[in-house]
Amino acid sequence: SSPRAPVVAGNWKMNPSTSAEAVALAEALEAVDGREVVVFPPTCYLDAVATKANKNVALGAQDVCVLAESGAYTGAVSLPMLKSMPRVDYVLCGHSERRSLFSDDDDAIRAKVRGALDAGFAAMLCIGETQQEYELGVTDDVCALQLAKALEGVTAAEMANIVVAYEPVWAIGTGLVCPADVAQRVHSSIRQRLRATYDSSVADSCRILYGGSVNPSVIDGLMRQSDIDGVLVGGASLDAATFGQIASFH
Ligand code: G3P
Repeated sequence: SSPRAPVVAGNWKMNPSTSAEAVALAEALEAVDGREVVVFPPTCYLDAVATKANKNVALGAQDVCVLAESGAYTGAVSLPMLKSMPRVDYVLCGHSERRSLFSDDDDAIRAKVRGALDAGFAAMLCIGETQQEYELGVTDDVCALQLAKALEGVTAAEMANIVVAYEPVWAIGTGLVCPADVAQRVHSSIRQRLRATYDSSVADSCRILYGGSVNPSVIDGLMRQSDIDGVLVGGASLDAATFGQIASFH
């Protein structure tokens, strides 16, 4: 039996289109005993979701601006702003869409992880290789490098507030789920990195989630793997019943 409480997280990305739909989705979310259920709504819906969602469902922000606490940064939302919202525990950092579409590089991601920890949030750190890197067989190296850069300066004690999400870019939104045994091998390699960088206690207690086209038909196979501690779900988290099915994995 693993000492790690499973996490089932939903990243709503830029969905749904209206606050009314966001509220309806929030109201339909179900908590599951023994599992940490987390959702990442768009920031503009966080307040409404916090008011409506089951108290046993945790909330996170999909992104944050760490350039300043306030000031002339049009369009940005700062850590103190997130802090002032009710029930926000997590900040998502390093998602591949932020890396590729919004130019979040390793330095920016490290700064967001640092800022999130300093502000008292847990950081959910996404890493993962592209299809080309997968085909070249450099998955472990890419993940190790992204992990090292994002966690530079993070102490062993602070690792209690880090959740890692392995999201192969080629599996995100494609319907191509990474086979469970392949994901297990990568998770094991990530955990080994944590053991080498920190120690066994950090490595054994850090939750490492899988993300990429997760759906109810693959969840049980993924969760049977010894180093897969949960999932980060995109598309399938937009339907409360489907997300609930995933969260109730066996
Ligand atoms: O962060 C979750 C994500 O990138 C996976 O998205 O739609 O493939 O489940 P999806």
